[in-house]
Amino acid sequence: MWHHINETLLANPGRFGYPVREVRNMEGNETGALLRRLRLEADMTQRELAEVLCVSPQAVSKWETGAGCPDVGLLTALAERFGVSVERLLAGDLEPNESDGGNMRRLKFYVCPDCGNILTATGGGELHCCGRKLEPLAARPVDQAHAVKVEEVEEDWYVTFSHPMEKDHFFRFAAYVATERVLLVRLYPEQGGEFRIPQLRGGGKLYLCCSRDGLFEVKM
Ligand SMILES: [Fe+2]
Repeated sequence: MWHHINETLLANPGRFGYPVREVRNMEGNETGALLRRLRLEADMTQRELAEVLCVSPQAVSKWETGAGCPDVGLLTALAERFGVSVERLLAGDLEPNESDGGNMRRLKFYVCPDCGNILTATGGGELHCCGRKLEPLAARPVDQAHAVKVEEVEEDWYVTFSHPMEKDHFFRFAAYVATERVLLVRLYPEQGGEFRIPQLRGGGKLYLCCSRDGLFEVKM
């Protein structure tokens, strides 16, 4: 079927109203079905989507029925329009995560190796920054070099540490995570080895992210 369509198009380049290079062989119609679903979710007709992409409505119809696949440039435009990744579009499946159980204690931290952006997720998810897919940081029990001293001061925890706070080796952030709350403290090179955070009910964990050595955790 797909070969036939390609051959027909090659023989009649203008006949279907879109360039031959748009058509690719497709194993299944998952991409097409997903495109249709996303278009309907966006409350757009095939004609409206075609206009946005400067293609013919027939081209959109072909994609959705699996008779053709948008070329790379159009895939990017489609992904952007519908707010999904090209990867998921090609897979034809958004791969939803299991429902997040609502427990903040399972919070995951991600740090972009390029720009230092800090991201968190309460459930699964695919997080990207600076064009790269990020993996959640795996926390290890705190070691001697990353140890902190936690004291109670009024309603707060007063945390001190002797870990370096130099440009290429410092604590990037500390996060205090309890069942329903998280307090993130951004730390900076050249600052003193201390910070204060309010106490939270139910204990929780204190995470410390070293710019060089990764993530550490201490039970509170
Ligand atoms: Fe370190």
